[in-house]
Amino acid sequence: MNKHHFLSITDFTVPVMERIFEEAHELKKEVKAGKLRKILSGKTLIMIFEKPSLRTRLSFEISMTQLGGHAIYLAPSDIGLGVRESVSDVAKAASRMGDIIMARTFKHETVVELARHSHVPVINGLSDMEHPCQILADLLTIAEYKEKLAGLKLAFVGDGENNVTHSLALASGLLGIHFSVASPKGYAMLPQVAQAATKLAKTSGGSMIQVTNPVRAVTDADVVYTDTWISMGDEAEKTKRLQIFAPYQVTQKLMKHAKPDAIFMHDLPAYRGNEVAAEVIDGAQSVVFDQAENRLHAQKALVVYLLGVV
Ligand code: CP
Ligand code: NVA
Repeated sequence: MNKHHFLSITDFTVPVMERIFEEAHELKKEVKAGKLRKILSGKTLIMIFEKPSLRTRLSFEISMTQLGGHAIYLAPSDIGLGVRESVSDVAKAASRMGDIIMARTFKHETVVELARHSHVPVINGLSDMEHPCQILADLLTIAEYKEKLAGLKLAFVGDGENNVTHSLALASGLLGIHFSVASPKGYAMLPQVAQAATKLAKTSGGSMIQVTNPVRAVTDADVVYTDTWISMGDEAEKTKRLQIFAPYQVTQKLMKHAKPDAIFMHDLPAYRGNEVAAEVIDGAQSVVFDQAENRLHAQKALVVYLLGVV
């Protein structure tokens, strides 16, 4: 098994993450200046999707195009992962041909299984447990706005038992960020993730608190973050969730409890009137499209790092 996979945001040490951010910053500057380094010429990324995507597919595919490589998109119906063919056989066959694999899966165990049997690096493009690529781009975005990461307060309001929340908590623990999360009772982070984030925070100088009161979580925050209340795979619970999460909408009133220069973040897709008020996501504090764009720059740097090209 190739030891360089990216399945969890904790797979990288802080120095590796910093190196990826530097490379992402460089690649962003270059592409904005119209310069394209064709350093992935002849390399192929295989993208396996069990769920829909806009940003993840576009950013990976465009990354490969701009770096001179190629990306192949495999839709859920193309390969029937684990149905038409076992996950391990898909990994073995795909990794005999492609140079790197990205997979978006329902169960986290599926992407772990792919990595276990792949001869080439495997990237988690979102599972039920984590969304590490999103968080790489988000950290890049926060650093662009706040010029630092350690010591900031990052508040998440909404579904705690959620891939984005989990990866944010773990990243905060690694990087010395003070992470607070407000979720309804019964929708807190998975205990093993909360424990891991708390443990990491102890050595980095960060902290982690879980509360049910959104005002408490958001007070004095530098960053206020939310995500959909109904993640892919949770659709059957839609009616129930809309009721339970209603007091957790990020409104202009809630944003007033954060620092005056706080930024608002959302990984997208967003549902205005549910997890966020339109005036917040479309307002001056929102950086959601910087986050979306930074998926491209962060993932280019990620692929380049995993392929050992620079
Ligand atoms: N944020 C994100 O991963 O978007 P997609 O689901 O559209 O890829
Ligand atoms: N938590 C969301 C993220 C979408 C990018 C989901 O899993 O659907």
